[in-house]
Amino acid sequence: MEKEIGRRALLCGAIALAVGVSPSIAEAAVPAAGLTQRKDGKLDIDLTKNPALKKVGGVITIDLSNGSSVAVVRTALGVKGLTVLNLSCTHNGVTVMQNGNQWLCPAHGSQFTLAGKVSQGPARTALFKYPSTATLKTLTIG
Ligand code: FES
Repeated sequence: MEKEIGRRALLCGAIALAVGVSPSIAEAAVPAAGLTQRKDGKLDIDLTKNPALKKVGGVITIDLSNGSSVAVVRTALGVKGLTVLNLSCTHNGVTVMQNGNQWLCPAHGSQFTLAGKVSQGPARTALFKYPSTATLKTLTIG
């Protein structure tokens, strides 16, 4: 059920973009580019247009029209090194914010690693991960 809701949240409506910052060095936000919503509802991201994802720890965020936010995190090098997270806190749904190498929930203080694992409660479960596949040039979410 949670997976289906998260997938629907990703696939609905028009998408507005905002780019986050790298985890260890705060950088000015850079507008993202290269998003394409496919006819099958999946989302393609042109990785060549998102240089923040070239280095491990790089993050871009995507704000969906339904108010939820998604992050793409470079957790390792290579095509399998990208993790796509729903940024709704698993405790009570508040959007988490990047704080260095972690996601911090402003509501009750839960913390998650950049890859989405719980590092401090009250949340007990990891941030939802969207299914994704990648090539050297394109990340497909959904
Ligand atoms: S909603 Fe995030 S810690 Fe409660």
